[in-house]
Amino acid sequence: MSRVRGYGRTHACGELRREHAGREVVLCGWVDAHRDHGGVRFVDLRDREGIVQIVADEESPAEAREALARVHDEDCLRVEGSLRVRAGAPNPERATGEVEVLVRRVEILSRSEPLPFEIEDELEAPEELRLRYRYLDLRRAPMQRYLRLRSRANHAIREALQGLGFVEVETPILTRSTPEGARDYLVPSRVRPGSWYALPQSPQVFKQLCMVAGLDRYFQIARCMRDEDLRADRQPEFTQLDLEMSFVEEDQVLEVVEEVVQAAFRAVRGEAPPVPFERLSHAEALRRFASDKPDLRIPLEVVDLGEAASRLEFRVFREVLDQGGLVRGLCLPGGAGLSRKQIDGLEQAARDAGAAGAAWCKVGESGSASGPLARFLQEEAGRAFLEAAGASPGDLVVTVADRPRRTLVALDALRRRAGELLDLVSPGDRLVWITEFPLFEQDDEGAWTPAHHPFTSPVEEDLEALRGGRREGVRSRAYDLVWNGVELGSGSIRIHRSEVQEVVFQALGIGPEEARERFRHLLGAFRFGPPPHGGFAIGLDRLYALLCGAASIREVIAFPKTSSGVCPLTGAPAPVDPEQLAELGIRQEAAAEEPEAGNLEEPAGPA
Ligand code: AMO
Repeated sequence: MSRVRGYGRTHACGELRREHAGREVVLCGWVDAHRDHGGVRFVDLRDREGIVQIVADEESPAEAREALARVHDEDCLRVEGSLRVRAGAPNPERATGEVEVLVRRVEILSRSEPLPFEIEDELEAPEELRLRYRYLDLRRAPMQRYLRLRSRANHAIREALQGLGFVEVETPILTRSTPEGARDYLVPSRVRPGSWYALPQSPQVFKQLCMVAGLDRYFQIARCMRDEDLRADRQPEFTQLDLEMSFVEEDQVLEVVEEVVQAAFRAVRGEAPPVPFERLSHAEALRRFASDKPDLRIPLEVVDLGEAASRLEFRVFREVLDQGGLVRGLCLPGGAGLSRKQIDGLEQAARDAGAAGAAWCKVGESGSASGPLARFLQEEAGRAFLEAAGASPGDLVVTVADRPRRTLVALDALRRRAGELLDLVSPGDRLVWITEFPLFEQDDEGAWTPAHHPFTSPVEEDLEALRGGRREGVRSRAYDLVWNGVELGSGSIRIHRSEVQEVVFQALGIGPEEARERFRHLLGAFRFGPPPHGGFAIGLDRLYALLCGAASIREVIAFPKTSSGVCPLTGAPAPVDPEQLAELGIRQEAAAEEPEAGNLEEPAGPA
């Protein structure tokens, strides 16, 4: 325990061991449990370091015995007594299990009402309720562990970056729209009615400005806000480790990020994966694993069956190929042993990912096919198809035929599901850089958008094609870091030459007028000798959730929001006073929805 302490505290409850026996101790903590055994009173007292047993027997002072008889779960106590080796049997499941405190004095510092759920490691309570009483949820040991690991990892990251010459800079929260492409959260200005701040989706523009400012190496543990559809690994407000470096190319940025990720690993797990991490180009990742965030623990690779499929008498394949679609598949070794239900599950994974379905066949001992695809696989073309798939007797071939993007998304889902089903996911950590992302992507309406953000540099060799008006296939200097199939972060080498920036804006259909309006602060700064620079941002919530083995990113965030963006604890978002709106010059048209109940509105009551 820290040497700075009050209330006469001598130790933390959880740190007491056999070697402390005989000492006089003063402890503060919460009542984890209490019981009475034939006149001997026991209380388990808990603080953040753990739990220790407190006892009052017949010889203890009457006042202390009475006080222990009156305690409730989660009352906050101060206890004085002497530590001894347990009179009863030791508790091998507890670090303090060999000792107990024979109490002399008990002070009830504050009382607790009945709890909405038990403070226990394995909790069944619904997440909504846990979030509503988050301060109680956080009293639980696993949650304390997550918060402390997070703090320790943040510290290790800061230390590593300081050592590498990085300067920590805080950038504004009230700012202008940033270029990450999600919807902004807006904040109205009172002093300039009709004008709005945007909350940053990332510190992207400011970190580039730090490079123009000559800082050379910037970092920040930064809050980012994005109003986007939430998924399991997304929060409306999340934390990035954001960094930027001047006079660098890809290799130096990657090296720094590897060092930082190693520091976080060591802080949480005590050991780190080896560097350098693997690298795959975006094109290769898509070709082999149908994904820009492949889970490399699964030893299955996608096969292109387009050519072999075009020779089969199968109308579906032919039509897809004629319309520019893809026919690709996976050969699952030993998959012929899967049950119909399991194969249905694989098909469903492809459908859930947006494909029309997945056609499959099993390969029997004789090499002949069975299953829905089998009747198209007769004769030579059929044999050639199975050969192209790399199928041997006992295998299952699953194919997806659809528009290119859908085919890949479905195959990624299939590959992950098959990996689990066949128990192929190897243990351990596979960290991989995905490099040379395309500079642009086409949205569903066919419009070209930046695959990363519009300040990402194209690769030098593709610059000519870009100047000539090409967009498809133009590569960028953007890279992602992927861990076991999860995108941890991304970054890029930026454009620092205004001529190149203009070409990119042009390709995106952003005219000079619009560019000036949207990015005036950055483009303005770039008139004054911007250095070549590049950077990266790691999603810390994702990194820590994975490092700690937490079930979701919400577990490693102290006060997260639900998947619908609500904070059950505070009731945010909530309507505001009409006067506040009037002061801001805002008239509300839609009726405000009922607010989520904040937790003082109802008494807690037992669950
Ligand atoms: P990007 O938008 O890819 O890049 O974000 C970087 C990383 O942040 C995490 N992340 C999220 N985590 C939780 N909830 C969210 N809603 C969420 N959105 C993103 C992910 C992601 O990989 N400015 C650029 C970085 C750069 O170019 O330097 C950026 O923000 O782990």
